[in-house]
Amino acid sequence: MAVIAKQCPDISVTVVDLNEARIAAWNDEDVNNIPVYEPGLSKVVAEARGRNLFFSTEVEKAIDEAQMIFISVNTPTKTYGAGKGQAADLKWIELCARQIARIAKDDKIVVEKSTLPVRTASTLRDILTHTGHGVNFQILSNPEFLAEGTAVEDLFEPDRVLIGGDESPEGKEAIDSLVEIYARWVPRERILTTNIWSSELSKLTANAFLAQRVSSINALSELCEFTEANVNEVARAIGTDSRIGPKFLKASVGFGGSCFQKDILNLVYIARTYGLTEVADYWEQVIIMNDHQKRRFANKIIKTLYNTVNSKKIAFLGWAFKKDTNDTRESAAIYVADHLLYEQANISVYDPKVTDQQVYADLDYLATRSSDTNKQLLKVETDPYEACKGAHAIAVLTEWDEFKTYDWERIYEGMLKPANVFDGRNILDAEKLRAIGFKVNTIGTSS
Ligand code: UDX
Repeated sequence: MAVIAKQCPDISVTVVDLNEARIAAWNDEDVNNIPVYEPGLSKVVAEARGRNLFFSTEVEKAIDEAQMIFISVNTPTKTYGAGKGQAADLKWIELCARQIARIAKDDKIVVEKSTLPVRTASTLRDILTHTGHGVNFQILSNPEFLAEGTAVEDLFEPDRVLIGGDESPEGKEAIDSLVEIYARWVPRERILTTNIWSSELSKLTANAFLAQRVSSINALSELCEFTEANVNEVARAIGTDSRIGPKFLKASVGFGGSCFQKDILNLVYIARTYGLTEVADYWEQVIIMNDHQKRRFANKIIKTLYNTVNSKKIAFLGWAFKKDTNDTRESAAIYVADHLLYEQANISVYDPKVTDQQVYADLDYLATRSSDTNKQLLKVETDPYEACKGAHAIAVLTEWDEFKTYDWERIYEGMLKPANVFDGRNILDAEKLRAIGFKVNTIGTSS
């Protein structure tokens, strides 16, 4: 919304949320204090805020005044009832739709921005048309393909913008009005329009294909470790095939983030509800592989430290699910930590952008042990050298650039020997570290 406001000064954009603290943070005088860390975002907000970009808690007023409403609420995986652990919880979507229906007094275009299971638009339409005041709603699907850490860049220069809508004349008119907004800065040939179901399904599918690539290369990383093949070399060799392409082939400790797992589980659930067992199993394997990769990484640490990590200090470099974001949702670090804590390790975490409250909240959410025990076993440090001091091992969980430039000799001096490094992102110069004296373990190479 900030980018739309920046690019279209004549359009008034109001972002509303019930959460007063969050809105207050978005309105913070110092734009560096906005709640999301994303390179370039503060600058965009600074330019548009107060001009044609507003953050407010007056939800009803904003609905009343808007011609176009983007629904951008979260759709977490259900933690209860039917479809628990797989289906998307559409509670917030429904509440939003009911609120819009209650307040709207004139025709509106309602845009699904949240990633939703295919056919959600029909639920929205049902609620809007049966509880509204006889006003006309057009529903569009406009899924977001930006990736965190590069969000602003991705929004300024998207590979494509996808807009799905009704095939009726009114539907086409609604699609056109959204196309006109993006066309201010996105070349028209990159704005794809489809029917609404294709648009909804494409978002889930794009994430499933991307996650599948990571799981595919991660599956091979394990084979590489046993065969003396090197996964980086394999990735380069296959990535130069133009049909395969070089991107998204970095072996890692496992993918995280708010989308991949949730969206694939969603796809799996939908396939199962249609009785498509093979389709569901096929996609589910992407998740199974990813869980395996996270567990395997933790197990490798345990095995290398002579099969016990009890009371040993293990330093985590990184907690976010990828670099350049403070987002930790589904981060591999959480699961690796949980596994090591189960073996009673002591963990000290350093992440350049993640707060200690967030780290503890992530662990407590798993409910594996009491929150007191989590605080006892795991410490969050604000200095990486402090985090590594006295450690038996360092594990790199996020690919932050700054990790590469640390004074690794100084870190080595402070550690217990043998000093182990487990590079879950293959970002460090393993040869250089070995020359210092470290024992280095990487993903997808035999050590
Ligand atoms: C993803 C999609 O890329 C984006 O289009 C969609 O809108 C939202 O979901 P995001 O979750 O922000 O974006 O991050 P992404 O860059 O896709 O990375 C997801 C995870 O995969 C991260 O944990 C990342 O570290 C991991 N990954 C990615 C790898 O392990 N190896 C790779 O080669 C690429």
